[in-house]
Amino acid sequence: MKTIDDLDVAGKRVLVRADLNVPLDGTRITDDGRIRASVPTLKALLERGAKVIVTAHLGRPKGVDPEADAKYSLAPVAARLGELLGKPVAFATDTIGDSAKATVAALGEGEIALLENVRFNPAETSKDAVERGRFADQLAAFADLFVSDGFGAVHRRHASVYDVAEDLPNAAGYLISTELGVLKKLTEEVERPYVVVLGGSKVSDKLGVIDNLLDKADRILIGGGMVFTFLKAQGHEVGKSLLEADQLETVVGYLERAKDSGVEIVLPVDIVAATAFAADAEHDVVAADAIPADRLGLDIGPESGKLFAAKLADARTVFWNGPMGVFEMEPYAAGTRAVAQGLLDSPGFTVVGGGDSAAAVRALGFDENAFGHISTGGGASLEYLEGKALPGITVLEG
Ligand code: 3PG
Repeated sequence: MKTIDDLDVAGKRVLVRADLNVPLDGTRITDDGRIRASVPTLKALLERGAKVIVTAHLGRPKGVDPEADAKYSLAPVAARLGELLGKPVAFATDTIGDSAKATVAALGEGEIALLENVRFNPAETSKDAVERGRFADQLAAFADLFVSDGFGAVHRRHASVYDVAEDLPNAAGYLISTELGVLKKLTEEVERPYVVVLGGSKVSDKLGVIDNLLDKADRILIGGGMVFTFLKAQGHEVGKSLLEADQLETVVGYLERAKDSGVEIVLPVDIVAATAFAADAEHDVVAADAIPADRLGLDIGPESGKLFAAKLADARTVFWNGPMGVFEMEPYAAGTRAVAQGLLDSPGFTVVGGGDSAAAVRALGFDENAFGHISTGGGASLEYLEGKALPGITVLEG
């Protein structure tokens, strides 16, 4: 796989696929981590005299809907990127239309433009390779070279991630090289004990990775909304908590397999259970096997926080994906805070994977540089750890 250092970019038009999928509150960016992570590659290309055209997505807009489009516009991202680069970022209000054409044509050496949300064009995510290919050809027509740097999207076989790389000489950007280097460490050269902390709301999103980790990790700590399916699988009642009943059988199987293979699965011993999904709802700490029928669990409890920290204390390698609770609401943030602190206190190499966990770490005021690595890819890093081929990477290798 080539990197941008192998490309002669001076005076060339370079199309860069970045992952600028940041959380927004209206038009306010609440966490700009992914924009900052994209800067080194863009800066290097600009300094070397490239004409840089960035394409990226935001959210999951469904087709073209002018009303919804505003909320998925990359316009606020262009402004923030300009601040970080210290130079204006021209913004095209479409993906391959008149605005994009005019914006690209006006670019000089060392100048940069961002195209509007690439998912506004339904061909971007189409399952039909021909339709996707046609769109990719139009994106590729803007450029002489393609640089893939949107690590968070490399597990998607999308036009701007995959197909366009087949149209142009291509290379990986610095973010992709860094992220792959770290993930390799977790799969090929892992130092033990290797502890994995999984949270977030959906068990079904994590099944593949749990399956794979049952042969690789020494301990798997489970919190977040997905934990209730595990507690239920152990025969406990979970009240009104999130539950994926259709995954129960699989989870029971995992618990058995873990026992056989000597992998320790650690579940919370207490839970913060609330009367409603709200910061001001009545809430108490209850034992994990005694969640009242009219309550829902919104965080792991304080004893679980201590337990998880203890299980991280001797780790030589840690991978963490998914918050332990609804950390955006202060009464349910302590579990996520305890795990973040546990990572910082552990002597090992610590990787925080995924948009939500990375945003949680920053939102809770931790110094992101104190962690071994904060990955910009949630789904992408999980699929890599699952052992799946990532289309956006294999296409660069081919
Ligand atoms: C992410 O948020 O993980 C990436 O930007 C990919 O987004 P997607 O899950 O909507 O494809």
